[in-house]
Amino acid sequence: MNNQTTKRDLLTFDDITAEEIRRLFLRTHHIKQAQKAGEQELTLKGRTLGMIFEKPSTRTRVSFETGMFQLGGQALFLSAQDMQLGRGEELSDCARVLSRYVDGIMVRTFAHKNVEIMAEYATVPIINGLSDDFHPCQVLTDLFTFEEHRGPLTGKKVAWIGDGNNMANSWIQAAAKIGFHLVLACPVNYGPEAKLLSQMQREASATGGSIHVVRNPAEAAAAADLVCTDTWTSMGQESEQQRRVRAFAGYRVDEALMREAKPEALFMHCLPAHRGEEVTAGVMDGAQSVIWDEAENRLHVQKAILEWLLGKITL
Ligand code: CP
Ligand code: NVA
Repeated sequence: MNNQTTKRDLLTFDDITAEEIRRLFLRTHHIKQAQKAGEQELTLKGRTLGMIFEKPSTRTRVSFETGMFQLGGQALFLSAQDMQLGRGEELSDCARVLSRYVDGIMVRTFAHKNVEIMAEYATVPIINGLSDDFHPCQVLTDLFTFEEHRGPLTGKKVAWIGDGNNMANSWIQAAAKIGFHLVLACPVNYGPEAKLLSQMQREASATGGSIHVVRNPAEAAAAADLVCTDTWTSMGQESEQQRRVRAFAGYRVDEALMREAKPEALFMHCLPAHRGEEVTAGVMDGAQSVIWDEAENRLHVQKAILEWLLGKITL
């Protein structure tokens, strides 16, 4: 098992450097090709990933679980309600106990503070599989997927249309780290948190990137290389759904909005999607959409993350 002094976590983009992302993607290409050729190496033989879920999941659960299996290890699905956490056991105690059994822990939770507590008390790496504030595994995958189709994102323009949510926050951090131009179109009161935004705007100016928040989706999409959106109602916000549907009217990614972007622009959505709400069926299923590659790449990118954090492979 990793010891406390050397363990690394992946809670947000703060935990990985631009150079490490570059090397992670090189490894991901290799892993993907090897798997397709039937030549997968068992780099995590005998290792176990614990996966704590406080929220539902399809992609994150299946890709982490399958990824561990394919690398020769195993994954444990741990529903928070079925653990003693559901009866009030402290997260810090849970983190310390699980660290005695497993080699890494993936956590999907509500408050971002929860993944920070896990990281503080666990002696094994913690991977954020989505919190209310960040979704780093998904945005790393999106960056990889863009590069696969169009080459490096550095200097390119990404449009984020809709909610200033966990995905938007991770895109903001990515823009600052990698140095691309991110324009978010969000309704009033649904923009990203001001403190994170101003911090990342400062960082972006040092990496050649930029981050702007606008109201008009067409302005964000204008000449963009990539257009992204996400659900208007994230997990945990179900009671706000009616209000959100009204607030986000006009923020649907449709064919007219895609025409504002470059002709070769790609469309991404982390999924699950709601055709007819945040995106039209025509865009989701259209020629510019790479959503299925994006979903598949969760598997390949996370295998590289697992090797980096749980295995002996150094990036
Ligand atoms: N994109 C994503 O994280 O999907 P799941 O909620 O299905 O894991
Ligand atoms: N913003 C969404 C992402 C789902 C993968 C949510 O948090 O529900």
